[in-house]
Amino acid sequence: MTDLLIESIHLTKTYGVGETAIHALDDVNLQVQPGEFVAIMGPSGCGKSTLLNMLGALDQPTAGEVWVAGENLARLKNVDNFRANTVGFVFQLHNLLPTLTALENIEVPMQGRVGGRERQRRARHLLDLVGLGERAGHLPNQLSGGQRQRVAIARALANSPKLVLADEPTGALDSQSGAEILALLGELNRSEGATIAVVTHDPRVAQATQRVLRMQDGRIVEDHRVDDPLAEDLRMLAFSKLGDTILDPDDAPLEDMTPEEEAILRRMILRLRG
Ligand SMILES: Nc1ncnc2c1ncn2[C@@H]1O[C@H](COP(=O)(O)OP(=O)(O)O)[C@@H](O)[C@H]1O
Ligand SMILES: [Mg+2]
Repeated sequence: MTDLLIESIHLTKTYGVGETAIHALDDVNLQVQPGEFVAIMGPSGCGKSTLLNMLGALDQPTAGEVWVAGENLARLKNVDNFRANTVGFVFQLHNLLPTLTALENIEVPMQGRVGGRERQRRARHLLDLVGLGERAGHLPNQLSGGQRQRVAIARALANSPKLVLADEPTGALDSQSGAEILALLGELNRSEGATIAVVTHDPRVAQATQRVLRMQDGRIVEDHRVDDPLAEDLRMLAFSKLGDTILDPDDAPLEDMTPEEEAILRRMILRLRG
């Protein structure tokens, strides 16, 4: 028996065979305690989505094992039940059903599992929790991108999952809405006690989480706890494009700076000036 919420053991996923095989996950050994809030970062194509899909039993490993909430995912008796009750998913695009209201969308995962009255009560509670109590009757296209993503998060929480898996949930949002979504995930991690794994490219996510995993070529190449925000900013800078250009003496760094990097530098300088 283990108390871990997530454990992957020599987890490997290979697409194709021979010379052209792609090692999307290459011997990933990961342990996550219940209640942790983990960010997964790394360049496009490094295996972040593949890892998330394995943790949610949306896909099967080529080799190795995945355990979630004490269950070996290769031996699940009822995969649908696991997907509906143990994990909740939030994707980059919200996937809300366009003809259902915000409230009804949140009820969908509870259909057939929770009675009608209780279902509505819980959906209203979740809508309040994500700050959209006033928008219950709105259709998705009557909500902003950030609001739709809030509804998607409420929907992911419908069956009180032990694990919430979010794949670039802020990827399609402007930076203000993105920051709000991350803050919301942090609140839900604390108030609901849900373990959250969030894939993101946004360096600010590190400020909101407790632990950052960095992947490269299908492997976890860095795994550290977020402690001091200033230390975190410095670490982010070290790994950023700007960090790369700063290390390259032939480059003129400031021309290549992204808005995120600029924000980090500004925060750092303000902190350093006291
Ligand atoms: N269904 C698939 N068939 C073949 N290759 C795939 C498939 N899904 C993902 N890959 C490859 O696996 C690698 C990891 O992909 P992915 O997990 O989506 O990366 P990330 O989410 O970090 O951008 C990439 O090289 C990608 O092209
Ligand atoms: Mg991805």
